[in-house]
Amino acid sequence: MYKLIIRPILFRFDAERIHEVVFHWLKTFGAISIFRRLLGLLYDFRHPSLERNVLGMRFRNPVGLGAGFDKDARLIDELACLGFGFIEIGTLTPKAQPGNDKPRLFRLPADKGLINRMGFNNGGVANAVQRLKQRRSDVIVGGNIGKNKVTPNEQALDDYLQCVDALHEVVDYFVVNVSSPNTPGLRALQEKEPLTALMRSVRARVDEKPVRRPLLLKIAPDLTNEQLNDIIEIVRETGTDGLIATNTTINRSGLKTPPDALEKIGAGGLSGAPLNDRSLEVLRYLRAALGKDYPIISVGGIMSPDDAVARMRAGATLVQVYTGFIYEGPAFVGAMNRALREAGL
Ligand SMILES: Cc1cc2nc3c(=O)[nH]c(=O)nc-3n(C[C@H](O)[C@H](O)[C@H](O)COP(=O)(O)O)c2cc1C
Repeated sequence: MYKLIIRPILFRFDAERIHEVVFHWLKTFGAISIFRRLLGLLYDFRHPSLERNVLGMRFRNPVGLGAGFDKDARLIDELACLGFGFIEIGTLTPKAQPGNDKPRLFRLPADKGLINRMGFNNGGVANAVQRLKQRRSDVIVGGNIGKNKVTPNEQALDDYLQCVDALHEVVDYFVVNVSSPNTPGLRALQEKEPLTALMRSVRARVDEKPVRRPLLLKIAPDLTNEQLNDIIEIVRETGTDGLIATNTTINRSGLKTPPDALEKIGAGGLSGAPLNDRSLEVLRYLRAALGKDYPIISVGGIMSPDDAVARMRAGATLVQVYTGFIYEGPAFVGAMNRALREAGL
């Protein structure tokens, strides 16, 4: 029904506007407990074989929602009803910021992709903390953290530490995001020296807290193998508990969308099907280097249940989706979990 009736209607309107409208309706109806129960009955597929013990936590299934969809933790309870095993909020920054000018989110239907240059629009970490304190669901929530646009890279560490301090009590794990292409200069923090310093300091701050929370690093798909080798060294040296691979790409090669349309859209991170091959490749590279037990959350271009199965077979510990969820709709989560169960994964 989603792909035949709902998606064609939604896709006629501006992508970000529709995101807001869907959020509004989910929030409104989600306040009614019978509606949440109905969502659960329709979409939430559960099976004991899907449970995972990873990062010291018990995930009810390995399929999560990627960062950026619910940046401000507005819909945790409703999204949990759809059957996600975990939900990553953010990227959050210490202060609220509007992000880039609109339009900044574009669909590429011919490629089953999206291009976004949102620029970490979010209501600030304190607002999200208030909302998380009120959540009912016990779904695992990850806190993806970044720096404000106005913060120079030399002071970025302070932004990440402020986010750790604010979120520590209300999230289950942390993700340091240095891989978004939409905050000027952010990806320079992926270089070896600054990243080692950043991860070491964030690790130390997380470890000062009474409860030990896992710390992960989210990386770009555009890193060279040499840069990936640096990342591998850094996560080992700094006690980083896991990697999330990958964020969106700035690469535009091999797309069906005509070059003039791409030019009109302009800068931004590309997600969805065109990212599949590269994300899988990065996963394989990291898995081979880090051994079979190191936690790697694979994200990028998972557009079908078969894609999710392929990622788990290639060594993903858990997977996340974003663009696939937009294209496939609410039944996608259950379909992936069913496929994983049938594949014995
Ligand atoms: C509109 C949009 C906003 C995003 N915002 C964030 C973000 O704030 N932080 C982040 O780490 N990743 C963000 N992402 C990246 C996704 O979490 C994911 O890594 C990427 O889209 C690849 O997965 P996909 O192909 O399943 O979408 C965003 C993606 C999209 C499409």
